Amino acid sequence: MTEPGSPTAGVARLFDALADVYDGVGVDFFQPIAAQLLSAMAPRPGERWLDVGCGRGAVLLQAAQAVGPTSTATGVDISEAMVVSCRDSARRLGLDNVVVEVADAQGLSLDGETFDALTSCLVLFFLPDPSQAVRGWLPLLAPGGRIGITTFGGLDQRWKDVDEVFEPYLPPALRDARTSGASGPFASDAGMEDLVRDAGFSDVRTVLGSIPVRFADDDQWHAFSWSTGQRAMWLAVPEDERPAVRAEAKRRLARHAGPDGVIEFEQPLRHTLARRPA
Ligand SMILES: C[S@@+](CC[C@H](N)C(=O)[O-])C[C@H]1O[C@@H](n2cnc3c(N)ncnc32)[C@H](O)[C@@H]1O
Repeated sequence: MTEPGSPTAGVARLFDALADVYDGVGVDFFQPIAAQLLSAMAPRPGERWLDVGCGRGAVLLQAAQAVGPTSTATGVDISEAMVVSCRDSARRLGLDNVVVEVADAQGLSLDGETFDALTSCLVLFFLPDPSQAVRGWLPLLAPGGRIGITTFGGLDQRWKDVDEVFEPYLPPALRDARTSGASGPFASDAGMEDLVRDAGFSDVRTVLGSIPVRFADDDQWHAFSWSTGQRAMWLAVPEDERPAVRAEAKRRLARHAGPDGVIEFEQPLRHTLARRPA
């Protein structure tokens, strides 16, 4: 049960509010990131899969297809609206092997069920205690089971230039939200590897990746920014000041646009992989 007024309840509200538009504004972002994580994890038919913080299913639905109808892909998320949307997508795709439940990734317990693989993509930095959360995920895997956690590998300096328009308004917890800090576990490959190793996992390694992120124009950037966790940054700006912030963002985006008006940034990614000792 999530405490009303807790940071986790705030995150759930944020994602409930944006679930309808998440991954739905025509920008290729969550699907290619999920595909990279799954390519590094190499799912096999018959594996029991768990995706923690599944959102609308970017990883979960691809994993369900890969493990096939003889197995189950289970997703959990703190946002009820994300869970409903993910279930709808699974139904529309005819994926009968998908199970999606509302659950907190922090202190996650699934009635003693174990899995062959666990993924968590762009979730860990939302949790109040990431180290403790990952320690709690270890017993959810069968001995020898694999884990893959995707976090951001940094921020393109051009994208940072645009994001800086929010800076005067952001509380400390939201500054540097995309990389989640210049120090600590999210600041380096070694930081994430140590977190996973300290949680009891073995064979820890990092696969680095990157995706291009294209915005047709500043309107699409604007729609995208409201459709992701970045919405929290907009909400930190008083409503009557948002037009000025948007105008400044537009001016900065123009600095980085190509001759056709398209703005292309790069999103570096860090996939931290490991296994539960056999
Ligand atoms: C950026 S989205 C990523 C969703 C999905 N993994 C993807 O790759 O598209 C972050 C997700 O983490 C979920 N989340 C955040 N905190 C959580 C928690 N404590 N327990 C479970 N899910 C959580 C949010 O509701 C949201 O769906």
